[in-house]
Amino acid sequence: MDIEGTELLSALNELLEAERAGARVAMETGRSISAPDLAALIEEIHKDEVRWCNMLMRTIKTLGATPSSATGAFYGKAMAIADLDDRLKFLNRGQAWVVRKLQVLIPRITDPSARAELNGMLQAHHHNIGRVEARYAPGLSIEAIAAAQTQEPPAPSEPSALINHILTRFHEVHRQQLPELIRLASAVESVHADHAAALRGLAALLKSMHAELLQHMEKEEDILFPMLRRGANPFVVHPIGVMRTEHDEHAERLAELTALASDATPPIDACTTWRQLCAGVRQFADDLQRHIQLENDVLFPQFEPDRR
Ligand SMILES: [Fe+2]
Ligand SMILES: [Fe+2]
Repeated sequence: MDIEGTELLSALNELLEAERAGARVAMETGRSISAPDLAALIEEIHKDEVRWCNMLMRTIKTLGATPSSATGAFYGKAMAIADLDDRLKFLNRGQAWVVRKLQVLIPRITDPSARAELNGMLQAHHHNIGRVEARYAPGLSIEAIAAAQTQEPPAPSEPSALINHILTRFHEVHRQQLPELIRLASAVESVHADHAAALRGLAALLKSMHAELLQHMEKEEDILFPMLRRGANPFVVHPIGVMRTEHDEHAERLAELTALASDATPPIDACTTWRQLCAGVRQFADDLQRHIQLENDVLFPQFEPDRR
């Protein structure tokens, strides 16, 4: 269902107020941080939050409305937390709230440029959450932390090179990562079944996402990608449409996944396995989102006459 004007404006204004709160928390918290690497990370988060405030204000003005000038209540709640680490973890929860809102909002927006802007905001939030999370997950592998902290180079846009990139960076990584996440989720669900924040149904959801993704990727690898490598022809439009529909289904599953895993934020007393699971779920969600976006917005339009 597409979103109506008034409802869209109020969703955008709510996000704007939240981003303004996040920007102020990051700016004021950054001033009291002495560790240079953490100070740099928070400064980057601050700059990002300011960037998304500006984007949201621009989008609201494009819709003919006046952007809200209020700051979200999140600001006061975050600044009331004196401990720096606890405040940064709380900031990450705020970022996860924004992700959840965007995941519900984006599929309902029809305007392609607003969708692209909000998708960029979603990616950046996933990325920053992963970077902060990595600092507080001592059990994470060096590779996982490095991956979270390093900006990846942009993907190529030429179809054949882009397909190679998608296969190695996303298809292979999903195939390796999902069985491990299912194992971690099963362990956490059974060991911590009595915890107040116990995860329920996460392993089952990951298993069905794994099965769906394997089938989907197989169709791309066996049918669609070989056709695209041979160049444009009118017969690719139908299978592309099928893949787009499946991507929409994956996006719905992703929203379920992040909701079920409490935005992939572990409780304060979570064990190492739980933290690894949350960091892994976040990385998987981030990867799948970027994977879908590259196919939908960069690869497929090169073969769809109506979208070029
Ligand atoms: Fe794919
Ligand atoms: Fe796909």
